[in-house]
Amino acid sequence: EKSYLSHKYGFSNIEIKKDEGGYYTEVGMRDVWDIPALRGNQPETIGYPTQKPEALVEKLAHLLTGVDDTIADFCCGGGTTPAVAQRLGRRWIACDQSRVAVAITADRLTRQVEEQTGKILPVPDFTVEHWGIYEVRRLSDAPSDQFRAFVLRAFGAVVESVEEHEAGIHGYKGAIPVWVGEPGQTKAVTATDVQAFANAIRKTLRYKQDNLRDGIMLAWAFRRDAMEAADRLRRLEQTDLNFIRLDMIRIDSPRFREHVTALTTDHADYENFLTFVQPPKVEAGYK
Ligand SMILES: C[S@@+](CC[C@H](N)C(=O)[O-])C[C@H]1O[C@@H](n2cnc3c(N)ncnc32)[C@H](O)[C@@H]1O
Repeated sequence: EKSYLSHKYGFSNIEIKKDEGGYYTEVGMRDVWDIPALRGNQPETIGYPTQKPEALVEKLAHLLTGVDDTIADFCCGGGTTPAVAQRLGRRWIACDQSRVAVAITADRLTRQVEEQTGKILPVPDFTVEHWGIYEVRRLSDAPSDQFRAFVLRAFGAVVESVEEHEAGIHGYKGAIPVWVGEPGQTKAVTATDVQAFANAIRKTLRYKQDNLRDGIMLAWAFRRDAMEAADRLRRLEQTDLNFIRLDMIRIDSPRFREHVTALTTDHADYENFLTFVQPPKVEAGYK
């Protein structure tokens, strides 16, 4: 690697070279590389948690590959490796178990290629394949408990035990009780569902001890009488139920890309979008 010198005088028996960085000599590569971690204000920062600096991948790419060689990263995250490979004229393969990571990578590469080609080519020369079992039909045909567990995990909530399910609470987001509707998209939430959830909330420790009465209901659709029931509970019993409507967005649609692009800004809300770990449920009581 290059070892830069502050001047070129006083050295004998070593070849001194020069580039845009100044005078340098060629030295054996050290086994510790000093590459600063990414900061939020750098142009390459997309906000992906654990994103690595391009300089690191670039160094490896130059060391280990030549133009037209193929670089593969099977845990590509925010797509640093393919982005560098693309820029350096290497072929690349990128995979990730997270569909969101794949979508973010595809978006990063699309924008990079568009910048390179000035949008002359309408589509960058790569294909994206989504392998997995989250097809719409499988989701709506799933048994209720599987569907609920899937939705709760995606929402970053902890799935509750069967006993709690029977008592009318399906999970907890932090300490807030969560209820999830049926898998079928035609089954809208009714006033009876809302009232039953409010009753279940009244039996929780946080209601009994701290008088906390809020809850979250996630479902494909809410009937008008459900909304009226929630209004009544808010007015008469100070019980605050938040309705969150589930939405089906095709992963290869412009809408999904917009969503991902909005995430790759300073205000990226990855906390709610990428769930790597489940938060623990903590409930404290006293006797
Ligand atoms: C440290 S991040 C990679 C960050 C990436 N180098 C960047 O600069 O953005 C690790 C990635 O590995 C993915 N991952 C973890 N286990 C995996 C597996 N078994 N198969 C594929 N991807 C996996 C995670 O989803 C995560 O996106």
